[in-house]
Amino acid sequence: MREYFKAKYHLWDAGLLATDISEPALSAAKKGIYSSERIRLVPPDLKNKYFKKIQDDEWAVSDSLKSEITFRRLNLMNQSYPFKKQFDIISCRNVMIYFDQPTRDALVNRFYNHTTPGGYLFIGHSETLRSDSCPYDYVKPAIYRKGAV
Ligand SMILES: C[S@@+](CC[C@H](N)C(=O)[O-])C[C@H]1O[C@@H](n2cnc3c(N)ncnc32)[C@H](O)[C@@H]1O
Repeated sequence: MREYFKAKYHLWDAGLLATDISEPALSAAKKGIYSSERIRLVPPDLKNKYFKKIQDDEWAVSDSLKSEITFRRLNLMNQSYPFKKQFDIISCRNVMIYFDQPTRDALVNRFYNHTTPGGYLFIGHSETLRSDSCPYDYVKPAIYRKGAV
């Protein structure tokens, strides 16, 4: 988002909510420290801009980028979520693999209700949504979109 909006970024009410059920996962995410291997696909200019090398093979996400992220514990199995506004993009990768089909369908419907019209759902590359029960439109592998009204 920073790269897209550039100097106008501060004019947008932009940000990222990062959730997980696991406190250890949240605390690792809050630290924002990655090995070179984990960030090997980040283009060098973005790596230099948004990461700082803290040790041999350890890279930390910059504080300015981290300040855009809110970390919260959330159980995706909850029947409702405490979010007032809808999201333009929901990314839920490699989590639904743990759930059975009815649970996945219910989860995708909850996501749908929390997506802005025209907004996107990103899933993992090894995952697919059932076309007969999925309310989103298929865009391409791993990307779905809520039709604009
Ligand atoms: C395989 S990891 C995927 C992490 C990340 N999305 C990725 O693609 O690299 C699965 C994550 O789902 C979380 N998870 C499992 N069940 C969950 C639930 N009911 N609600 C929220 N998060 C859950 C786990 O704690 C774990 O961090």
